[in-house]
Amino acid sequence: MVSLGIFSLISTLFLVLAVPTTAASSKLSADYYDQVCPKALPAIKRAVEAAVSKERRMGASLLRLHFHDCFVNGCDASILLDSTSAFDSEKEAGPNNNSARGFEVIDRIKLEVDKVCGRPVVSCADILAVAARDSVVVLGGPTWAVQLGRRDSTTASKTTANKDIPKPFMNISDLIKNFKKHGLDERDLVALSGGHTIGRDVINIPKARDTP
Ligand code: HEM
Ligand SMILES: *[C@@H]1O[C@H](CO)[C@@H](O)[C@H](O)[C@H]1NC(C)=O
Ligand SMILES: *[C@@H]1O[C@H](CO)[C@@H](O)[C@H](O)[C@H]1NC(C)=O
Repeated sequence: MVSLGIFSLISTLFLVLAVPTTAASSKLSADYYDQVCPKALPAIKRAVEAAVSKERRMGASLLRLHFHDCFVNGCDASILLDSTSAFDSEKEAGPNNNSARGFEVIDRIKLEVDKVCGRPVVSCADILAVAARDSVVVLGGPTWAVQLGRRDSTTASKTTANKDIPKPFMNISDLIKNFKKHGLDERDLVALSGGHTIGRDVINIPKARDTP
């Protein structure tokens, strides 16, 4: 990780996107699971460390999974849902199909966390958020406190995923618009683009349309 500081904003940024406003929603807090299951966060960390030591790229993939979850109706784990008769999975949306990965790692973490907690108290949305942070840390980036207490969605939207996840051929004004729509400004766009200092070399991006 070369450019440091780049990740230091991720915590607050994803917090902006974190809570879909529902009647049931209450404030997020970093100590949300401290009473109900103090073993939860250490279990997530162990599982992320194991996954990343098996395959280093997985840390990047888990960070991207959180981003692609958050940009579609908030950080609500909707990206994890498979298609049903009621909706098409976000996994099949263009920006995810054949490039979003790490689902089996998240599944394993959820099983493990439910086991150490003795019951399913930790949301998948929080697992995605914590796994993203732990991934950045294990790859040598800075740490941050993850605000917790997200609720999981029971629905997903492939259409919204196609519409709201930024595309690699977007120009700067469209990228700024896209981030604004998610409550993020230009500074956030630049800082979060630093997420690309980790992960697979991007070999599939169409040439930027900045040629005459
Ligand atoms: C600004 C708009 C963005 C665009 C257009 C974009 C686009 C892309 C594309 C096309 C890839 C390659 C996917 C593949 O073929 O494997 C990629 C990878 C990646 N993106 Fe982004 N991205 C954006 C923002 C972000 C943000 C905000 C984050 C997180 C902070 C992020 C994290 C990553 C990571 C970690 C990878 C590597 C994933 C892996 O190796 O599995 N990206 N991005
Ligand atoms: C997703 O990728 C698979 C495998 O390449 C392909 O068969 C399928 O048509 C793609 N789905 C969509 C919705 O693009
Ligand atoms: C960016 O792309 C959009 C189309 O997606 C176009 O309408 C707009 O004029 C472009 N802006 C610049 C500054 O190139």
